[in-house]
Amino acid sequence: MSNEAHEPESPVLQAVRLSKHFPVRGIRSKDVVHAVDDVDLELHRGRVVALVGESGSGKSTIARLLAQLMPPTSGTILLHGSDATARGRRAFRRYVGRVQMIFQDPFGSLNPVHTVRYTLTRSLRIHRGRLRGHELEAALDELLDRVQLRPTERYVDKYPHELSGGQRQRVAIARALAANPEVLLADEPISMLDVSIRLGILNLLKDLRDRLRIAILYITHDIASARYFADRTMVMYAGRVVETGDSESVTQDPRHPYTQLLIRSAPDPDDLEARAHGARGEAPSLVRPPSGCRFNPRCPFATDLCRAEVPPLETVGEGRKAACWGYSDRDGRPELGSVLEAFGERPTVEEPVA
Ligand SMILES: Nc1ncnc2c1ncn2[C@@H]1O[C@H](COP(=O)(O)OP(=O)(O)OP(=O)(O)O)[C@@H](O)[C@H]1O
Ligand code: SF4
Ligand SMILES: [Mg+2]
Repeated sequence: MSNEAHEPESPVLQAVRLSKHFPVRGIRSKDVVHAVDDVDLELHRGRVVALVGESGSGKSTIARLLAQLMPPTSGTILLHGSDATARGRRAFRRYVGRVQMIFQDPFGSLNPVHTVRYTLTRSLRIHRGRLRGHELEAALDELLDRVQLRPTERYVDKYPHELSGGQRQRVAIARALAANPEVLLADEPISMLDVSIRLGILNLLKDLRDRLRIAILYITHDIASARYFADRTMVMYAGRVVETGDSESVTQDPRHPYTQLLIRSAPDPDDLEARAHGARGEAPSLVRPPSGCRFNPRCPFATDLCRAEVPPLETVGEGRKAACWGYSDRDGRPELGSVLEAFGERPTVEEPVA
């Protein structure tokens, strides 16, 4: 199992202290939404990092920042150690050739009036130049084969509405692969698909990780699928990373009270949110986030220290970190106990995505 100390290579893509604050609409409003604050993240060749957290915790904002679809408020994105900020269209196009994004809704992201052939040809030509004739046919065949749409001639002239949700997502992945990317940013790639075909898409992404050694960011609400698929898992709460580590340890032995709540109480995030709100008030405002640890209004162990100062991500085991004062030696630190007793236990569902 991987961990930070044993990462074999330097990261392909790295975010350093990344923040994004969105202005709040309204005349003369100086308020901002603290969507992402001070996030560090590393993506390595042939590895998957899962970004997990409830709705509104900032996951998609991180993906959009990494894709450079918008500029960060502060912080840096590094590609192979160099500042990756794309200034101008040509630089952005080069960047997109290396860092591709896959979205939640393959229907929305594929143009309904174009065939698979058109969509993939366009992407191939953008990223690999003007392929024609045999060369183009061979490239189309290879792409469809890579995403396991076989026999490829059955799919190449289809329109999106003639394909199932899973097949559409495979086409969207093929379109991303046309660029020969080093990084795939997959924002909830299976959450809109029928449960029965989710595993197939995750297995395809696993295959791309292993055979093409692509670095993958896998965004999900579903921590069980993170355990199945991701080498490392990062848990976000209200715009900040609260826990990181190898997926097995984070999911089997969560350290941060929020991760414990996320994992042990219920696999269904909506249910989790409803129960946590019921038990401990609303999810925090991101316009005026709680001071100190943002989880403090919902945390059963919070002390004055938690309300006063932001806990840093500290090492809590080999390759593992958690941002909770309970693991510090500071005066006034909280005494951590059973989150389950505080929130009430729920049966854990073992099987991730089948
Ligand atoms: N363009 C924007 N303008 C203003 N606020 C935004 C914008 N995009 C996102 N936000 C806010 O930033 C916060 C984080 O949103 P984000 O979409 O990153 O969350 P998420 O973790 O992906 O949630 P979900 O699981 O529902 O997809 C939310 O409060 C959201 O309302
Ligand atoms: S104990 Fe304090 S620092 Fe730890 S999660 Fe709870 S509120 Fe945050
Ligand atoms: Mg999202």
